Amino acid sequence: MRIAHTHARVDVPATSANLGPGFDALGMALGLRDSVEIEAVAGRTEVEVTGEGAADVPRGEDHLVVRALRHGLDHVGAPQSGIRMRCRNEIPHGRGLGSSAAATVAGLLLARGLLADPDALDDRAVLDLATEMEGHPDNAAPALLGGATISWTDEASAHAVVLDIPATSSVDPVVLLPAAVLSTRTARTLLPASVPHADAAFEAGRAALLVHALTRDPSVLMAATEDRLHQEYRAPAMPESLELVRVLRQEGFPATISGAGPSVLVLTGADDRLVPLVRQVVARPEDWRAARVGLDRLGARLW
Ligand code: HSE
Repeated sequence: MRIAHTHARVDVPATSANLGPGFDALGMALGLRDSVEIEAVAGRTEVEVTGEGAADVPRGEDHLVVRALRHGLDHVGAPQSGIRMRCRNEIPHGRGLGSSAAATVAGLLLARGLLADPDALDDRAVLDLATEMEGHPDNAAPALLGGATISWTDEASAHAVVLDIPATSSVDPVVLLPAAVLSTRTARTLLPASVPHADAAFEAGRAALLVHALTRDPSVLMAATEDRLHQEYRAPAMPESLELVRVLRQEGFPATISGAGPSVLVLTGADDRLVPLVRQVVARPEDWRAARVGLDRLGARLW
């Protein structure tokens, strides 16, 4: 495969996975974006980062966007070169808002942007490669496609469909972000190898109901966001987030842990009662931030 362009630019939204009962399957794109510009150069790879994660991320070949870009180029047999890259990040790292999926999707789309035949890395290939790198498709799918998605994998590949959420929907996501971080890897070690049959049955029913709630009838969102598969098991790693979810739900807010946490997602959070409630529950309100991020319907954009 031939490289036809030296420059590419992409922006990719944050995502919230699981949405309660949709563990590793449901996800939603949110109105926070990372933007990345690259130039293919003859010299060595150089990375400049501003915004979220700027103090922590590697500045060379180890940067996740660069690794994903190289993975994409290798996949289609395109030649590699040095990369000069500029990242402007809005997505907080280690908070359950899909920053690694956004970086992975960004790198793969940037690879597409350099190719003579962009169709060689179509959305299907990007979702497959991103899922391979992430281990699950529930952040990569909404990051790529926008909106709320159901994603799944079979022996051959990853798949996703976008739910039809009406423009008039009352779904208006707010995220509550703590200063604390939690890695997905750590959060996954807290999950049991098996769960009671009754909990699996409960979860399947709630996940199905959530699709109805999001697409047709948000009045059932409270029941539709109940979970028995992951949130409580992860409580030891984020007790304050779980307490916040519990209190907000008691007060009628459809709150869940966002992805692997520790952020909290409130699906209909545009309500004056929300922030005062958060202040009452958490020990150090100055460590928490509320952001009315909204639903992102566009998904990733390659310019
Ligand atoms: N479904 C994944 C998990 C999402 O909860 O571990 C991680 O962002």
